[in-house]
Amino acid sequence: MISNSKQNHRVVSGMRSTGALHLGHYHGVLKNWVEMQYEHECFFFAADWHALTTHYKDPSQVPQHVTEMVVDWLAAGISPSSSTIFLQSQVPEHAELYLLLSMLTPVSWLERIPTYKDQQEKLKQHDLSTIGFLGYPLLQAADILIYKADLVPVGEDQVSHIELTREIARRFNFVYGKESDFEARAEKAIVKMGKKSAKMYRNYRKAYQETGDKEAILKGQALLDAQRNISVGDRERLFGYLEGISKIILPEPNAILTNASKMPGLDGQKMSKSYGNTIPLRSSADDVDKGIRTMPTDPARMRLTDKGDPEKCPVWQLHLVYSDKARREWVQEGCTNAGIGCLECKKPVIEAVQAELDPMRERAVMFEKDPEAVRNIIIEGSEAAREIARETLDDVVEAMRFSNFS
Ligand code: TRP
Ligand code: SF4
Repeated sequence: MISNSKQNHRVVSGMRSTGALHLGHYHGVLKNWVEMQYEHECFFFAADWHALTTHYKDPSQVPQHVTEMVVDWLAAGISPSSSTIFLQSQVPEHAELYLLLSMLTPVSWLERIPTYKDQQEKLKQHDLSTIGFLGYPLLQAADILIYKADLVPVGEDQVSHIELTREIARRFNFVYGKESDFEARAEKAIVKMGKKSAKMYRNYRKAYQETGDKEAILKGQALLDAQRNISVGDRERLFGYLEGISKIILPEPNAILTNASKMPGLDGQKMSKSYGNTIPLRSSADDVDKGIRTMPTDPARMRLTDKGDPEKCPVWQLHLVYSDKARREWVQEGCTNAGIGCLECKKPVIEAVQAELDPMRERAVMFEKDPEAVRNIIIEGSEAAREIARETLDDVVEAMRFSNFS
């Protein structure tokens, strides 16, 4: 069985460094990361090179943004003892893999990715007819493949990038995964698993190759996951042999869709910096108080005695995030019968947001006071990430038979 132990799943995710984060990021991404760090081996990084693809004319802001973003992660509860927190540009192996992968990536694969044309249209002021921008998803593929990650938590808009990552991995494995004596080595590896497992493996392989039984593949993979006495190389061979292809050097990752953030902004639209409707994670208690107090409500409720409709009120959206059933009923009842005032209705939301932000503010202050600690977390994380990235790169170069030195 594939177990959920930390050893078996490796999670990688990055965020472009664009400055301080807000509650939309928290509910959309960070909360998920915080949970995942306790279940899986997690690598979270600030994608400063990705920020550079659009901000290459003014890169001087990027380092400042990185620090702000990482402090927000730490404030939100991402912990350097449960996850590896690092900076993309501190792990140059990402760039090296990107370069090698670029050799076998057709330009058309990148041109047809929906975000390419979309963003070019949207961000006209940035002049994005660059190789760097075209290569954005390829760099992302390298970010993921360099850790042989199996899970990548991303939003819906990133699914095409993960699909590309899978295609590139497949292509790489196909082109370079053919050892001349692959079959013989795979057969030897089967025997090493012991009689019982070997027999099961052969049955699964046969079932898949003869009838395309997908279930058999999954069972075969689980069987391999559970093997403790075969080498990494043999395991990779057997994964490839199971499907009848070739050695798998770069495993194909899966996207896990993070629930699109339901976090509404202060005006009821999606919370986003470009709409100017955010609650930053490090906003003061006063700002939160004022921001929510002055939120627009159902325009029908001019006076306290006017009845309203929560569906027409952005505050209701916040109740959907923060309130339990009983309180929601209280809102429904009080609003539609003019039994409560809007300020009264907002009060529990304000309290809930403050309660959510309080521990974050506390942690943030700690790290704001100690920039050296933040720096060290990033440096240590980057060193740890580098070690793993280096190993993958060695495998890659070896599979390509490209080096005299490894
Ligand atoms: N492109 C991602 C975004 O805009 C950020 C990112 C860069 C990323 N590299 C990654 C996400 C690797 C997951 C894995 O959100
Ligand atoms: Fe909105 Fe609540 Fe006022 Fe109704 S009572 S309009 S839900 S703030």
